[in-house]
Amino acid sequence: MQVVENIGRTVEDEVAMDTLLKPRLALVFSILAHVFFLAFASSQDLQILNAEKRIDLTSHIVKVFLTLKVENTGTLPASELLLAFSPTEFDRLSLVKAAIATGKKKKRSYVPLDVKPIELLDAPNGAKGFSISLLNPLSPGATATFEILYISTHTLKPFPEEISQSESQLVFYHDTAFILSPYHIKQQSTFFKTPSTKVESFTKLEPTNRAGKEIRYGPYEDRAPYSFSPILLHFENNYPFSVVEELVREVEISHWGSIQITEHYKLAHAGARHKGVFSRVEYQSKPSLSGVSSFRHLLARLPPRIHSVYYRDEIGNISSSHLRKDFQKSDLEFEPRYPLFGGWKATFVIGYGLPLQDFLFESPDGRRYLNFTFGCPLAETVVDKLTLKVVLPEGSTSPTAVVPFEVEQHLEKKYSYLDVVGRTVVVLEKKNVVPEHNSHFQVYYSFNPIFMLAEPLMLVSAFFFFFVACVAYLHVDLSISKMQ
Ligand SMILES: *[C@@H]1O[C@H](CO)[C@@H](O)[C@H](O)[C@H]1NC(C)=O
Ligand SMILES: *[C@@H]1O[C@H](CO)[C@@H](O)[C@H](O)[C@H]1NC(C)=O
Repeated sequence: MQVVENIGRTVEDEVAMDTLLKPRLALVFSILAHVFFLAFASSQDLQILNAEKRIDLTSHIVKVFLTLKVENTGTLPASELLLAFSPTEFDRLSLVKAAIATGKKKKRSYVPLDVKPIELLDAPNGAKGFSISLLNPLSPGATATFEILYISTHTLKPFPEEISQSESQLVFYHDTAFILSPYHIKQQSTFFKTPSTKVESFTKLEPTNRAGKEIRYGPYEDRAPYSFSPILLHFENNYPFSVVEELVREVEISHWGSIQITEHYKLAHAGARHKGVFSRVEYQSKPSLSGVSSFRHLLARLPPRIHSVYYRDEIGNISSSHLRKDFQKSDLEFEPRYPLFGGWKATFVIGYGLPLQDFLFESPDGRRYLNFTFGCPLAETVVDKLTLKVVLPEGSTSPTAVVPFEVEQHLEKKYSYLDVVGRTVVVLEKKNVVPEHNSHFQVYYSFNPIFMLAEPLMLVSAFFFFFVACVAYLHVDLSISKMQ
């Protein structure tokens, strides 16, 4: 299906080139290219000599590090490597990154590779996949080592689903003992790292070993493509399950010297639901025993040189915040009005100002651009839905956003005091955001400096008309009194 779509697109592109002969030639070429591409990328000719999967279950964001040593056993160079996921796992993925190792042991370095989702043809059980494009095709007989990181959210299921204030939180985690892969794997092991040594149970599939906070499955030898063996782990995890169900960050640029940021949070504790009554006395007197999976301290990591910080909720200002600044960052520590237990929510707003010159630059082509961080400033937090709005100064035109990963984009208009034509707002939306998404993005736009004068001119003319009106009024007034 992918192939058919691609051909369709190429044909359309070529038709647009408007000569008569070209489209047909292009069609023939593109079909040939695709046939060649298919042969080139045939997945059956790769095999995995050694695979190691390490799953970090210490927080509520599950991180998987996969090391694959791949050999090309075919007769043609291979230009891509495929990864397979079960459909549920695929839906919870927040990020997939891949790199290829180059150089020998001590001088080893990693070159990042492009990863994109693809349809896995003939994969059993609806498995879905990603394709990693190799910079240089892997020639027949050659081997290469890949490092893959993927992160998933909402994968740890609290069980029991409800706990009281004095209980600690237990969770389930489902996975497979054999690494799901479209390739034959000669040798493999899987390691799980749990937050504590308190493990209630785990599926055993010989050889399985548990030592301290680590559970190891394997080594297993010679598993056919798409081998699968479900396993279940049940263990203690009291990490704060902090999830922002919705975050709207508004970044407003004013060419008069500052950037104003307003962040609206809908924060929830996504762990086991709290049952029974909440005793504040018990909570405060025995913090190590009571409400161990709850949280109250929040930390927002904000840029340096921040000013006019506020923190408020529906009721009003909250004073329990503390700001520490150094030349690299500003740490804002704050507390909601009450500690958050499983299922509880808190809604609040954080606002602050930043100096314009730290974030707004001019590009070589004369356009201006904002260089700012994407993601959520709260530490170790999942954002189910993030909306980032960049409000450009009035009179800005043709904005373009450059984001290092896929986001949904559209434009809006915003009117504030003294605006005549309104401000263009670049809206970026992304679901399932994790701290690894806190990378820089840019919004480029053109701006005519004449617009800088619009607001002062309007103020001046407003005062002028006010003055004229006063004078007129006084004159009218006088003439009336004369008449009497
Ligand atoms: C809230 O705090 C901000 C900043 O500290 C202050 O400017 C504002 O007046 C306060 N508002 C209320 C209602 O106390
Ligand atoms: C954006 O800022 C970061 C951090 O200061 C910097 O590393 C990066 O090069 C900047 N990007 C652009 C396009 O200016």
